[in-house]
Amino acid sequence: MKNILVTGGAGYIGSHTCIELLAAGYTPIVIDNLCNSSTISLDKVKQITGKKITFIEGDVRDAKFLDSVFKKFNIYGVIHFAGLKAVGESVEEPFMYYDNNIAGSICLFDAMNRNNVKRIIFSSSATVYGDPATVPIKEDFPVSATNPYGRSKLHIEEILQDIYVSDDQWNIGLLRYFNPVGAHKSGLIGEDPNGIPNNLMPYISGVAVGKYKELSVFGGNYPTPDGTGVRDYIHVVDLAKGHVKALQAFESSKVDNLYTVNLGTGIGYSVLEMVKAFSTASNKKIAYKIVARRSGDIACCYADPTLAKEMLGWQAQYGIQEMCDDTWRWQSGNPDGYKVNAEPHLMVEDVTV
Ligand code: NAD
Ligand code: WQD
Repeated sequence: MKNILVTGGAGYIGSHTCIELLAAGYTPIVIDNLCNSSTISLDKVKQITGKKITFIEGDVRDAKFLDSVFKKFNIYGVIHFAGLKAVGESVEEPFMYYDNNIAGSICLFDAMNRNNVKRIIFSSSATVYGDPATVPIKEDFPVSATNPYGRSKLHIEEILQDIYVSDDQWNIGLLRYFNPVGAHKSGLIGEDPNGIPNNLMPYISGVAVGKYKELSVFGGNYPTPDGTGVRDYIHVVDLAKGHVKALQAFESSKVDNLYTVNLGTGIGYSVLEMVKAFSTASNKKIAYKIVARRSGDIACCYADPTLAKEMLGWQAQYGIQEMCDDTWRWQSGNPDGYKVNAEPHLMVEDVTV
């Protein structure tokens, strides 16, 4: 059994990835400082899989803590999810974002190097493509950033590229996710944003469940078929499976030791198409009004996922209706996310290191 250190593994994408790692025969070892998550997600992973996840509370900026984890467990590779992800907040709090995302990543990579663990999958984002000149977006398109969050992802990609140049023993997969949505089929785990959601899907599902009165659709005059923004929404379970393929790919001859790949479906849906699909899934009317564009938004963004298929043998399986159905099952079953069921640390093995 290969131990995979999953930083930020109690979070939205991390918890779903733990399930897929277990299904593929890996053993996830989760570290998380719980700044945007709760260990209840890992309790639920145990409920779903029947397997207990090793969880150690700690911060990727804590070098001593990381050394103790690498010394205690024989780690085969790292999947690095830990980080802050709210674009607007990053504009307000650049120090916090550069410290958490960039300094945290450097601390982690340094600890990996010291402990001779040189295999990593990094959570990058389609945000690194800025406002692309054309769609679909290929991996060799120019990159840019318009906010500290996006810049942190770009810098971390570049840092990992420099690390590889200095030492080609490293295996590095840079995964550029498009727009993750959806939830596990069980309805037991899903996205649980703090406060009012910034992203479309949790907001729509919040309207459907009665938490918010109506959705503000940011812009109705984009050069898209219905005037609203178009994005490549990808089911979080597909995304999670992509991480397993990305790890396995290091053992095949199909990828270089350093590779960059898009994880998207290749299909773009508009805001109004998402509203319609969610309305069908929930059997609720989703009230909305078209308001001004949100600063920094682009009209259209979707992936060319060809490389992921060729290199990783991965392609998204779930469509828009499953994304909405699964989000609705999670949201309607857990209108307050993990909060209402809080039994902190229950069933989670709290390992002292
Ligand atoms: P999330 O907030 O649910 O998960 C991130 C986890 O990292 C949280 O559990 C949080 O508590 C933890 N964390 C944050 N800082 C930490 C630190 N310094 N030390 C230890 N743990 C820390 O977010 P997510 O949606 O699961 O995103 C996971 C990764 O994927 C992030 O790096 C994010 O930037 C990236 N990403 C997300 C999206 C998206 O839309 N969800 C899109 C592209 C990329
Ligand atoms: C999607 C569409 C909005 C909310 C962001 C980050 C990106 C990545 C994913 C991490 C857009 C519209 C939204 C609302 C709306 N995260 N919208 N009303 O902006 O594509 O990407 O999350 O890496 O970096 O920038 O996602 O879900 O916020 O927006 O009309 O209340 O929905 O304008 O067209 P986005 P989103």
